[in-house]
Amino acid sequence: MSNLSSLHIIYASTSGHTEYVVDTVEQYMKEHVPTLSFERQRAEQATAEDLLRGDVVILGSGTWNTGGIEGQLNMYMHDLVHQKASTVDFMKKPMTCISLGDDRYYFRTRCTEHLLRYIREHNGMLFVPPLIIVNEPYGQEERVQRWAQKLAEKMLEETLPKT
Ligand SMILES: Cc1cc2nc3c(=O)[nH]c(=O)nc-3n(C[C@H](O)[C@H](O)[C@H](O)COP(=O)(O)O)c2cc1C
Repeated sequence: MSNLSSLHIIYASTSGHTEYVVDTVEQYMKEHVPTLSFERQRAEQATAEDLLRGDVVILGSGTWNTGGIEGQLNMYMHDLVHQKASTVDFMKKPMTCISLGDDRYYFRTRCTEHLLRYIREHNGMLFVPPLIIVNEPYGQEERVQRWAQKLAEKMLEETLPKT
């Protein structure tokens, strides 16, 4: 697959952790792959149509106790995928997700499964494995950058120099 030149990340973040990971991906892309068009949007501002923008779409969320039960999506991502965009057909769009959680919780990073199921059930194509961040992202920047590098390489079908 080639000619994947635009990336759209839609994310929800309550305490800023997912946002920090998205910041890190954005910084990597802008520094190392300036030809790639990068767009980011908060889930609370996104519509169903927005989910279809970009050659590759990434959904980002932490794991929360939305609805009173642990192991759920962030409430804004939950609203987007289960309400606003519950009938979207991705028509094999290349997609993946960024998911966060904390090892103090039994349903650790369970939002990954919710996002993967959403992508699968709505006819998206998993493009690269999800980026799963356990605990605070601060200090985990290298992992995020390596993942961003693999993503960019697959989009461009070329090997990028090591960071
Ligand atoms: C009320 C609450 C419930 C949470 N539930 C879970 C959970 O079930 N599983 C998990 O892995 N992390 C859980 N977390 C941890 C968050 O997912 C983690 O802190 C994440 O990095 C938050 O991302 P955000 O700041 O982008 O929203 C919970 C945190 C809070 C405050």
